[in-house]
Amino acid sequence: MDHRTYTYPDNLLHDRVILISGATAGVGRALAIHAAGHGAQVILHGRSVPKLEKIYDEIEAIDGAPRPSIAVMDLASADSDAYRTLADSLNDEFDHLDGLVNNASILGERFSIEQYDAAMWQQVMHVNVTAAFALTQVCLPLLHKSDDASVIFTSSGVGRQGKPFWGAYAVSKFATEGLSQVLASEQEHGKLRVNCINPGAVRTEMRRAAYPAEDRDALKRPEDVLPTYMYLLGPDSKGVTGQSLDAQ
Ligand SMILES: NC(=O)c1ccc[n+]([C@@H]2O[C@H](COP(=O)([O-])OP(=O)(O)OC[C@H]3O[C@@H](n4cnc5c(N)ncnc54)[C@H](OP(=O)(O)O)[C@@H]3O)[C@@H](O)[C@H]2O)c1
Repeated sequence: MDHRTYTYPDNLLHDRVILISGATAGVGRALAIHAAGHGAQVILHGRSVPKLEKIYDEIEAIDGAPRPSIAVMDLASADSDAYRTLADSLNDEFDHLDGLVNNASILGERFSIEQYDAAMWQQVMHVNVTAAFALTQVCLPLLHKSDDASVIFTSSGVGRQGKPFWGAYAVSKFATEGLSQVLASEQEHGKLRVNCINPGAVRTEMRRAAYPAEDRDALKRPEDVLPTYMYLLGPDSKGVTGQSLDAQ
């Protein structure tokens, strides 16, 4: 079965509670809407309340979609108290979590290692790696309460093969692949599956910032890369863990 062309019923994610980080734009936004339309109760994470409210309203307007929840947190500045507060509110509202999609990331700057700004380096590593670690850590107790939970990390082609001028972003994606593998191996005998997805080139703001001059019409839209996400979030991927999948 090719996960890139995976087909699934309208109720694939019925009764599943799924937290998506960076649900306000790009791939995360498309996934949140699509997952809710397929029965998931999505927890929309983002840093901008107006953007979160907008997507909340869009999901509420989908016929039959469960009402979403909102989790506001700026991954660049959140401290341990903020993660504890998030964990407490998740615990108050939900008795389990079936999916966590670590999707939020920043690109940083396209400079050589020689010229890379140290503060920017720290920020990219923090948002892309440390925040994904911290978010996953506070979600694990609720994920363990599900019979079929799935954690997804988001990688990139430049996180598998080093390329010039991708700086901290590329290094953060290598680290993300590592984080996913380490967690997957720790959960080997449990019910939790842990995998990485490289969405490939997708028509989003991040892609525009990385390639401002390219023909955007030639790129896949966020909606086009979702089958791999749906496969890993739904029951058909039970037992699939420690993998790094290309969505294209
Ligand atoms: N697009 C591609 O071609 C491509 C290729 C390979 C891998 N990827 C990966 O795919 C994932 C999605 O990328 P995308 O292209 O959809 O990116 P995007 O359009 O730039 O969206 C990124 C999301 O992350 C959120 N975010 C960024 N910094 C945050 C912070 N400090 N706190 C909370 N949320 C924050 C953004 O929130 P705001 O809306 O508030 O900015 C937004 O919701 C990323 O992990 C990216 O590295 C993308």
